[in-house]
Amino acid sequence: MHDILPEHATAWRHLEEVARRVVTAYGYRQIRLPIVEKSELFARSIGEVTDIVEKEMYTFADRNGDLLSLRPEGTAGCVRAGIEHGFLHNQLHRLWYVGPMFRHERPQKGRYRQFHQLGVEAYGMAGPDIDVEVILLSARLWRELGLRDIRLEINSLGSPETRIHYREALTAYLRQHKDALDEDSRRRLESNPLRVLDSKDAGTRAVLGDAPKLLDALDEASRQHFDLLCGLLDDNGVAYEINPRLVRGLDYYSHTVFEWITDDLGAQGTICAGGRYDGLIPQLGGRPTPACGFAMGLERLLALLEAQQLLPAEEAPDVYCLSLGDGARATATKLMEAVREAVPTLRVLTHCGDGNLKAQLKRADKLGARVAVILGEDELRDGTVALKSLRDDEPQRLVAQTELVTNLLALCAKESLDS
Ligand code: HAM
Repeated sequence: MHDILPEHATAWRHLEEVARRVVTAYGYRQIRLPIVEKSELFARSIGEVTDIVEKEMYTFADRNGDLLSLRPEGTAGCVRAGIEHGFLHNQLHRLWYVGPMFRHERPQKGRYRQFHQLGVEAYGMAGPDIDVEVILLSARLWRELGLRDIRLEINSLGSPETRIHYREALTAYLRQHKDALDEDSRRRLESNPLRVLDSKDAGTRAVLGDAPKLLDALDEASRQHFDLLCGLLDDNGVAYEINPRLVRGLDYYSHTVFEWITDDLGAQGTICAGGRYDGLIPQLGGRPTPACGFAMGLERLLALLEAQQLLPAEEAPDVYCLSLGDGARATATKLMEAVREAVPTLRVLTHCGDGNLKAQLKRADKLGARVAVILGEDELRDGTVALKSLRDDEPQRLVAQTELVTNLLALCAKESLDS
């Protein structure tokens, strides 16, 4: 679990702001959900025999003895809220959320125990057009952030019925090759055989080469959904790879699943993942409602922005106000309040505490301020202030205190044009 220090806050805000703009442009509305839910919600949705539920949840009994968990993801809580507030059945919704998620995983680069996701969930739309919409939305976000070299992998898990048949065929095949499987896969063979498909073990992967393929087992309707999805992606110029082994680590998916992956971050290269989960709402007690969505890992996106040198510089103050002597300091405080009142978007710092002019100027420079406002004994007496641009060699000049706001705005505007 990491602290996000002030020097990183600008980058976080940049990412969140661009993402907020993009989801809003597609008509998604924000939903804010609790961080703690009943543990059984996650067992019933993500799945009893998934890594997340088996070994990664932060679970505790509260004072009533209810078993609660810190949310490991946002989809389950979103569906729980939808059922509770009755906004899912026979309605269309496009929602988004952002916030911390918790998984007790083995920490490594790109994998944390508290991490942040921004996710979207769309309800009430059964066709591949909404699957494509959420993919296009994410692709637009990569473009707006300037990110490159992210590939899209897609697959179809078919309908639940398809999967029952496929599961039997896969299990029968894998049992014949049990000795060649790694230990984890042997265990999953009986509990969750589809997860064997994304094993990283070389021996298991060799066995999987000849395993029956889920895509070959799709029923007619699932096949059609997938073909339409691929066609719509082609129409919109979105490049993708079909990865028949893409199965996802959460059990609620059916039909479309997808992941956006980069090779720039090492092993934890999936920056965004999701798909369709039509079965989840009835499974949690709601009436059948089609659903699809995705979540992206903000830490991974920030690491990628950094790797591709796309992070904005930390925001510096526009104005740093220096003063010498008690009288000047009191006037400086009042003048800067008036500046903030007149231009609320300007970042204005007043020097507090001791220090001669040189020390104060050094501090203004260190913070990267654009303009210094200087108020000494002479200025105090004459009702003026000295203005000094800190990013060019323009000579310092005196202006009347009553003209300060106008002059500051002109200076900052010129600075913006120059930079
Ligand atoms: P997920 O694949 O478990 O899906 O997580 C989505 C993304 O969250 C991952 O691709 C990754 O970028 C990020 N992430 C996951 N675990 C960690 C971690 N320990 N540290 C850092 N980042 C991590 C879901 O959570 C689904 N709820 C997505 C979804 C929404 N499907 C439909 N709607």
